[in-house]
Amino acid sequence: MYAFKIQGGYQLKGEVEINGAKNAILPIMIAALLTKEPLELSNISYLSDVNTLSDLLKSMGMKIKSKKNSLILTADKITNFHADYNFVSKMRASFWVLGPLLARFGEAEVSLPGGCAIGTRPVDLYLNALKEMGAEIKVENGYVCAKGPLHGADIFFPKVSVGATHNTIMAAVLTKGTTTIHNPALEPEVMDLIDVLVKMGAKISGIGTKVLTIEGVDELHGAKHNVVADRIEAATFAVAAALTKGKIFLKGAKSNLMTAVIEPLKLSNVVFKEEKDGILVDATKASLKSTSLTTSEYPGFPTDAQAPLSALLSLAPGMSLIEERIFENRFMHIPELKRMGANITVLNNNAVLITGVKNLSGAQVMSSDLRGGVSLVLAALTAKGESIVKRIYHIDRGYYQLEKKLTKLGAKIKRIKSKN
Ligand code: UD1
Repeated sequence: MYAFKIQGGYQLKGEVEINGAKNAILPIMIAALLTKEPLELSNISYLSDVNTLSDLLKSMGMKIKSKKNSLILTADKITNFHADYNFVSKMRASFWVLGPLLARFGEAEVSLPGGCAIGTRPVDLYLNALKEMGAEIKVENGYVCAKGPLHGADIFFPKVSVGATHNTIMAAVLTKGTTTIHNPALEPEVMDLIDVLVKMGAKISGIGTKVLTIEGVDELHGAKHNVVADRIEAATFAVAAALTKGKIFLKGAKSNLMTAVIEPLKLSNVVFKEEKDGILVDATKASLKSTSLTTSEYPGFPTDAQAPLSALLSLAPGMSLIEERIFENRFMHIPELKRMGANITVLNNNAVLITGVKNLSGAQVMSSDLRGGVSLVLAALTAKGESIVKRIYHIDRGYYQLEKKLTKLGAKIKRIKSKN
């Protein structure tokens, strides 16, 4: 295993390249299952989640060629409709192969993902939608065994789910008849998937609204697509700038996709300037301010930016309140931040009260999940002394070469071997 060794207290300055969003790359790679023609994707970073999904798709017969920052995926000979537990337990998004396999081939056998560190994360919304579309679904030996044919249906999501929206849209585009999805997720990554599907010949209307209408087509074709920039990676570097009173140009980032994260940072006097090819974040005159945040669906404050902001607010004088409304257990990083000197009370599993402290101090801490892990790196960048952040395989799932990017900005961070 590896860990990050970080010496805190260095101001970050310079330019950082924001890669294509992990949460868009994954569903779009899966969308390649919907056509026998090649799907060419650019602005790809080889995150460990991307590698895991490549392995799963290859195990089904997909051909995947990778060039610098791009992937060509061809699903002309899919021979295996089985997504093994080994893949799905490692990365939940693997479950999303269910909809496209069922729509194109009429059958799929996909492992149930189970819970994960941030909550139980059920899949009832996915399965109910497919059942409404006529799928015959049995759960056997930990696998969802589904059979078509599917037909168009009127689907109402009682709760907004990014994954269930991806999965249902991908099933509907190749399903005869009209499917209407009420209350879909509107996250930019969902919009990016829809963008690709339309390029592939899908007939989708109501894009960007709370009612999507999809007319199924017989076949989709290949397409080329440049994946949308990762708003959570951009938010992470913006927080790094704020914590170190630095100045960072987020190359490729778009501020209109991250308004909810920018707002609390602006309160702390961090200046955001949208430029032609990115955002300049100037925190050289920042003075951190406490605030209250509640996570919610897009365009609300993203749950994935909650942990990074909690690191920031632990240094903001006064009291801050963070409420987590998307996942039931997303404060696993808090005990670790406390080990670095943060004064945080977990009120219940869904809220924390943060009393700002003057300084954090370096410590050995452990990542428990992707965003919680990166919040510890952020805290370490500003903490007095040395920190060791362990179990960084969580962080590698969603941040490509984080230590290289931070080093280029002036941080003192090294990847080192670690026994645990
Ligand atoms: C995706 C993102 C993740 C982000 C999350 C919320 C990817 C790869 N992951 O995860 O980074 O934090 O959206 O923006 O894109 N739920 C149900 N039943 C279901 C499905 C979901 O109750 O069938 C619940 C979940 O437990 C959770 C909420 O709905 O409480 C939202 O989860 P969802 O939007 O589905 O998250 P993911 O798609 O898994």
